[in-house]
Amino acid sequence: MDLLRWGRSPWGEWVLTHVSWNLFWASLFAGVLFFVAHASYMLFSAHRKRSSAETDALEAANRNLPPKIERHGLAARLFHWVMAAAMFTLLFTAFLPVAGIKFPWVQWHWMAGLVLTASILFHIVHATVFLDFWSIWVGPSDIPELKAELLRELGRDVPGPKPGKYPLGNRLYHLAIVVTGLAVAGTGVFMLKRIRTPFLVRNPYIFSDTTWGITYVLHGLAGVGLVGLVIAHVYFAVRPEKWWITKAMILGWITRRQYLEHHEPTRWRIGRTGSSPKPAGQA
Ligand code: HEM
Repeated sequence: MDLLRWGRSPWGEWVLTHVSWNLFWASLFAGVLFFVAHASYMLFSAHRKRSSAETDALEAANRNLPPKIERHGLAARLFHWVMAAAMFTLLFTAFLPVAGIKFPWVQWHWMAGLVLTASILFHIVHATVFLDFWSIWVGPSDIPELKAELLRELGRDVPGPKPGKYPLGNRLYHLAIVVTGLAVAGTGVFMLKRIRTPFLVRNPYIFSDTTWGITYVLHGLAGVGLVGLVIAHVYFAVRPEKWWITKAMILGWITRRQYLEHHEPTRWRIGRTGSSPKPAGQA
């Protein structure tokens, strides 16, 4: 199976031009395979939230917590849905033509691309300045949680820590989206110079053929990667046991009980108002 496409430069050299669209079908297939495999596995998997008795005890010990806990503020929710709309527009405009549905896609694609890029820039500033920046990253301190989760998966009732604000799987997913999202947006911004837009003078000669080839291949690789990643994300959002998380991305809050069932209060601290106080040392 060909993974890359090559062409001849005006000087007769072979240069990379694009990724092969076989990779799009491979990523689509991987996304669908993942959800079938995970859904089958979940039929047999042990339940991973705290037992009722344990949650009752925690509720009794945390009576000062308000009934609603803020999970995502308005700005974070708006970012999420603007980014999702841009992402779907980008995926459909890029890959419907590959699937045989032809239309003038480039104009819609670059416009959605600018919305995605702007929303990513907003998110970087917002998360760095206003949110608990480190709550979404993975590091060695997560090893006890990983061990506990793996043992629970194997059916063992182990005490180990519950997640902080974001479970390990969500944080690994975020890392994959950061890499693919920055790659697709970073390359896409340069590719604007290759097409006609109202605000840039077209100049395909700013890069050599080889550099353009690498840029298009990176854009294509990140783009096809996003097909599988987005399928996995939507699949988790619609699974009934995850609706409480999806609802929080719409309404902004979860209940006190959901907070105590699924999280470790010492790893995701909540103030009296129901929102997370700013961690010490962060601006
Ligand atoms: C989900 C995100 C995205 C996906 C899946 C995606 C996918 C693609 C694909 C598959 C192509 C065709 C590449 C080729 O022919 O080798 C393409 C082209 C292009 N994309 Fe994206 N892209 C995304 C985001 C962006 C962003 C953020 C921008 C701009 C900021 C952008 C701007 C462009 C431009 C200008 C082209 C070139 C069109 C041409 O040369 O005819 N894309 N994109």
